[in-house]
Amino acid sequence: MKVISFLGSPRVDGNTELLLNEAIRAIQEQGHEVQTYKLNLMRIKPCQDCGGCDKTGVCIINDDMTEIYREIREADRIILASPIFFFGMSAQAKAMVDRCQSFWCEKYLLKKTIPEGSYGRKGLLMLVGGMKKDIGIECGDATAKAFFRTVSVPTHEVLGFLGVDAKGAIADHPTALKDAYEAGKRFVQQ
Ligand SMILES: Cc1cc2nc3c(=O)[nH]c(=O)nc-3n(C[C@H](O)[C@H](O)[C@H](O)COP(=O)(O)O)c2cc1C
Repeated sequence: MKVISFLGSPRVDGNTELLLNEAIRAIQEQGHEVQTYKLNLMRIKPCQDCGGCDKTGVCIINDDMTEIYREIREADRIILASPIFFFGMSAQAKAMVDRCQSFWCEKYLLKKTIPEGSYGRKGLLMLVGGMKKDIGIECGDATAKAFFRTVSVPTHEVLGFLGVDAKGAIADHPTALKDAYEAGKRFVQQ
């Protein structure tokens, strides 16, 4: 099973990364490798709405998305993990998502969906917010839903934690790390 994950937080060893690592640990214990993309360290230009992908479904920008496009196409499981910034996912995560406009053209204009392998395609959204306001999760999930459906992932689980602000504070949350571990385990069971 091919599992990939996207880390949308710029904060090294921050709450999102700690949470994601717990899910990854569970997945690895189930015998699967996880390829993680730390979006903050990658060269990903925001979508230019140039129309270059309209007729082909192929983005004409040459940067680190080239590898990500291939990985998304081949993945059986995709994790998107992001802090909540201004009631949505981080700019790092959103830039990657917006660049999937080429998949949108492929699916909705050219009527081609990404074929699923024998494990099906599933998504997992992980969000961490400092405030106790549900709208952060609602807005983050709205974008994530558009992303997952666009890349032909028909279902995704949402794991969101609010009121977690200081670096590393997720470790003090009563259930978050355990919840992430359990979600990771479930994620690769068929
Ligand atoms: C630019 C910025 C915007 C933020 N906006 C929100 C917000 O709208 N809602 C919220 O719940 N938390 C917000 N936060 C707090 C972060 O979501 C919180 O600190 C989170 O734990 C960061 O996760 P990380 O350690 O993985 O980066 C914001 C933080 C930053 C730096």
